[in-house]
Amino acid sequence: MDDSTLEIIIIANGPAKIKCTKAEITLPDGSIVTKEKPFSLCRCGKSDDKPFCDGTHNTCGFQG
Ligand code: FES
Repeated sequence: MDDSTLEIIIIANGPAKIKCTKAEITLPDGSIVTKEKPFSLCRCGKSDDKPFCDGTHNTCGFQG
């Protein structure tokens, strides 16, 4: 994967894993979070750290 390639892997019953070297995520309040290594976005809706995955999908029964 080169620096310009973004790879998104949907984990069964879990998050969307974002593989990239750098990403800027704009949050609903307009603030920007910069990630410079792979990270995961919540798909279950139960994370206390939205939009990021905090592992809660492992205990909330998320299927998807
Ligand atoms: S997908 Fe992991 S906490 Fe929601």
